[in-house]
Amino acid sequence: MQLQEKPQLQPKIDSIFPDESSIPTEFQLPDPIHQTEYLIDGLLRQWEGSRQEVSSSIYVKTADGFSQKVIGSVPILSEKEALEALDAAVVAYNNGRGHWPTMSVSGRIEHIQDFAYRMKEKKQEVVNLLMWEIGKSYPDSEKEFDRTIAYIEDTIDALKNLDRTNSRFVLEQGIIGQIRRAPLGVTLCLGPTNYPLNETFTTLIPALIMGNTVILKPPRLGVLLNRPLLEAFRDAFPPGVVNVIYGKGRDITPPLMASGKVDALAFIGSSKAASSLKKLHPKPHRLRSVLGLEAKNPGIILPYADLDLAVKECVLGTLSYNGQRCTALKILFVHSQIIDVFLERFCDAIANLKFGMPWEKGVTLTPLPDIEKPKYLTELVEDAKSLGAKVVNEAGGTVNKTFFYPAVLYPITSQMRVYHEEQFGPVIPIVPFDDIEVPIQYMVESDYGQQVSIFGNNADTISKLVDPLVNQVSRVNLNSQCQRGPDTFPFTARKDSAEGTLSVTDALYAFSLPTLVAAKQTDINKGMLTQIVREHKSNFLSTDFIL
Ligand code: G3H
Repeated sequence: MQLQEKPQLQPKIDSIFPDESSIPTEFQLPDPIHQTEYLIDGLLRQWEGSRQEVSSSIYVKTADGFSQKVIGSVPILSEKEALEALDAAVVAYNNGRGHWPTMSVSGRIEHIQDFAYRMKEKKQEVVNLLMWEIGKSYPDSEKEFDRTIAYIEDTIDALKNLDRTNSRFVLEQGIIGQIRRAPLGVTLCLGPTNYPLNETFTTLIPALIMGNTVILKPPRLGVLLNRPLLEAFRDAFPPGVVNVIYGKGRDITPPLMASGKVDALAFIGSSKAASSLKKLHPKPHRLRSVLGLEAKNPGIILPYADLDLAVKECVLGTLSYNGQRCTALKILFVHSQIIDVFLERFCDAIANLKFGMPWEKGVTLTPLPDIEKPKYLTELVEDAKSLGAKVVNEAGGTVNKTFFYPAVLYPITSQMRVYHEEQFGPVIPIVPFDDIEVPIQYMVESDYGQQVSIFGNNADTISKLVDPLVNQVSRVNLNSQCQRGPDTFPFTARKDSAEGTLSVTDALYAFSLPTLVAAKQTDINKGMLTQIVREHKSNFLSTDFIL
């Protein structure tokens, strides 16, 4: 393939970072936020100990040259405060006898609604911090916030539905039963950097609404955006129900798990970290884990696929938020018959993507939040090059501080690191194939099993692929990129990519246990149950119908 030289990209990459004065007023950050508060047992405590500086993924030009924008700092709590947060959650749960776990479903819904109301008032602050902290484009940051609010509202609706179904007694083989969902206990919620708000809340909200008490620890990157929500957590929930702690994960999360007092672990991150946390629990069978882990979703582009569509979806799939999505397409298998034309169109489409600062209109590619990431991505590119691959797009792999211009690598073989490792960034490995067994074997042998995208238009070929592939992954996407949404669809995976299922409804099940009250159909039992229900004596035994 003949590559066209378009040398104008390099100078644009070199000058990607702005002068402080050129940042539009509405996106400028006020003074750095030096957060001293953390939330334990309904109190915002003040921290006077050591602190972690929070830097933006964005560099700005100052009189002394370029420097990474400091947007604030957060407390580095110690094991002592983490265990105090745990105690507060344990007391609020009180072995299932606390006010929160025994509250009526409608009561808990009111608290969550109150929280959502307070949260909406903080939208601008949260969105701006999200953008500055992790370099997500402004529209995508706003989308993350709105999607989270919609998730909360959908969760409430799903619980109302579930509760309506459960607000009745069943009669089976002479036994009267009422079956509901009961909470698990104390939940440790650890969210990810790429969706620090949305993905954290997709476990936090269902855990809370089902009656669990929570210790929330935000991720290392994507942490300050939680500050505007601390008062809402404090004011919307009873003391101890939500506790928010800060600090180094490796110091404060192991003691929580080792205490044996965590009943549910909600974690979005690497399988390695998840395994080591789980192993610390002294009674692992008592621990429910809900995990969203790494993935290496392949895109398979068959001959006769609609190439315009395939290119469009593969660009979205590989490069939305710079490829930093667990659902991103992280390797493309392209049939040899169409490889040349695919590469040409794909590279052209990438060259047309706007790159720059997250507030710039129409921007797609932005700086990366993890300062170490460009080095790692460069290593992957160099490894592939040393084994025979080429960077086939103009300026691919060019680095300017935290910005990494997408590198399209071709041809990729199984000897190269990027064939196996989850790059979680803008490096796109492309493997040519003649035999469909090549991508199928890749999936069979992979440690990951989240999703796949197949591009093609032949019903026979597609159906022959769908049947084996649904047993390799948990979602097969036809002629579209991989994605989590709509949030009402089950979101799960096989192998090292997930444990448990998260959709609006599945998450309610994930953070609860079916529990029933059963009684033989005798006159005494019938009379007693009727009296309990009629006189509203119990929150569990109840036929109240939430509208
Ligand atoms: O990082 C993983 C996210 O849950 C993916 O969500 O497919 O909607 O971007 P998304």
